Amino acid sequence: MSSAPPSTAALLLSFEGTEGCGKSTQIRLLQEYLIAKGLRVEVLREPGGTSVGEAIRHLLQHAREGEGLVAEAELLLFAASRAQLIRERVVPLLRQGVWVILDRYVDSTTVYQGIGRGLPQQTIENLNAFASDGLLPHLTFLLDLEVTRASARIEQSGRSLDRMERQPQSFFEAIRAGYLHLAETQPQRIRRINADQPREQVHSEILQHLSPHLHGASA
Ligand SMILES: Nc1ncnc2c1ncn2[C@@H]1O[C@H](COP(=O)(O)OP(=O)(O)OP(=O)(O)O)[C@@H](O)[C@H]1O
Ligand SMILES: [Mg+2]
Repeated sequence: MSSAPPSTAALLLSFEGTEGCGKSTQIRLLQEYLIAKGLRVEVLREPGGTSVGEAIRHLLQHAREGEGLVAEAELLLFAASRAQLIRERVVPLLRQGVWVILDRYVDSTTVYQGIGRGLPQQTIENLNAFASDGLLPHLTFLLDLEVTRASARIEQSGRSLDRMERQPQSFFEAIRAGYLHLAETQPQRIRRINADQPREQVHSEILQHLSPHLHGASA
């Protein structure tokens, strides 16, 4: 008999927030922390995380062809990447007892395509549920940072901007407000974290939110 851990042992976590708010940095810190606790952890990004998803990511963020995308097509491409990721990677990993950390997930679609692009909220909710097979994270960390602070971080890092990032500041202000509204309406799942603090402090706030879920968790 195999002694695989019960599927309930592994958690699905997601990180959200505007560009440059510190998602990748915090995901790395959390992954290291969980691994040191003896847990198995996989980090996956959206869009992407599968071969199909990475091709979609390229189209959405970098390819010249992506410049002509209409908002509706953009929404469907994000959904296609997600549908593949959930079925090919996330569900099998959770079943094996592997914790999964997603770098963006359904809430990104809700705010970027819903508020940012102005697509109908109901359509997005339906599509999110369809693509994700109704799978919501146990916890979502919203790294909240003033838009100007976030762009200063990106500028300082010296990296170039992708297609989504070349939007006016008002776009990102609306995104931030949308995220905050989501966190207010779903406080059980979505935890707002003040990202305008040193890395280690942000990390420890995240751990505080996670600690009730860590009791009894083992590899
Ligand atoms: N708490 C922090 N204080 C200051 N700078 C930070 C902090 N966290 C991350 N940074 C820096 O800000 C920049 C953006 O961080 P990071 O790449 O983690 O953000 P992100 O949300 O993943 O961005 P993206 O949207 O580009 O994926 C990086 O140069 C990173 O080193
Ligand atoms: Mg990142």
